[in-house]
Amino acid sequence: MNDHLHPLAPDVAFRPAAIADAPSFATALTRNRAYMRRWEPVRSESFYTVEGQTARLTALLADRDAGRAMPWVLADADDRVIGAFTLSGVERGPFRNARLGYWVDEGHAGRGLATAAVGAVCEAARDLLGLHRVEAATVTENAASQRVLAKAGFERVGTAPGYLHINGGWRDHHLFQRLLHDDPPTA
Ligand SMILES: CC(C)(COP(=O)(O)OP(=O)(O)OC[C@H]1O[C@@H](n2cnc3c(N)ncnc32)[C@H](O)[C@@H]1OP(=O)(O)O)[C@@H](O)C(=O)NCCC(=O)NCCS
Repeated sequence: MNDHLHPLAPDVAFRPAAIADAPSFATALTRNRAYMRRWEPVRSESFYTVEGQTARLTALLADRDAGRAMPWVLADADDRVIGAFTLSGVERGPFRNARLGYWVDEGHAGRGLATAAVGAVCEAARDLLGLHRVEAATVTENAASQRVLAKAGFERVGTAPGYLHINGGWRDHHLFQRLLHDDPPTA
């Protein structure tokens, strides 16, 4: 894992998420609440607290330990969370697939951080998890996220009506995938 501590920019680290990040997550998610509203599920008030983030990270890290998820953060020079990138729903067998979700702090938008981090996640999905495919879905109006996926080598494979409950309603999503290699599944 330590080989994935590489910086994406001189002042930004890309590293695995840790339970100790809970206070920093609570601060960053509160700061970005309005910025992310259009693209996120409606969250409970407790989601924005240290306790809520501790509970979320505890569940996520248990999923990681069970091989079902891989969560990373972007951290600034003071090791404060400024973004998150999570592979979840990891499946093996003939599918070898995971779902990707992410966000980057509004104050760091447009620096290419999301594009670089998505590239690093795909590298880890292939090299650390042995996956063949990463999928992502964006609300059809989320042009910035679609641009990130296109820049990171994803292709749009369809549109799913009413795919996820986002910002208070079932929203149509564009579906994307990136195939990571052509090799057959290993044991
Ligand atoms: C989507 C998000 C992760 C992008 O992060 P980022 O670090 O700013 O992304 P990058 O800098 O790597 O690339 C952003 C690209 O989108 C483009 N972009 C930004 N806003 C845009 C808009 N409204 N319409 C079209 N393109 C837009 C940028 O110009 C850039 O493309 P370029 O390099 O060709 O100029 C960030 O905006 C975010 O967290 N948004 C809120 C949560 C969210 O949408 N998460 C994803 C859910 S699927």
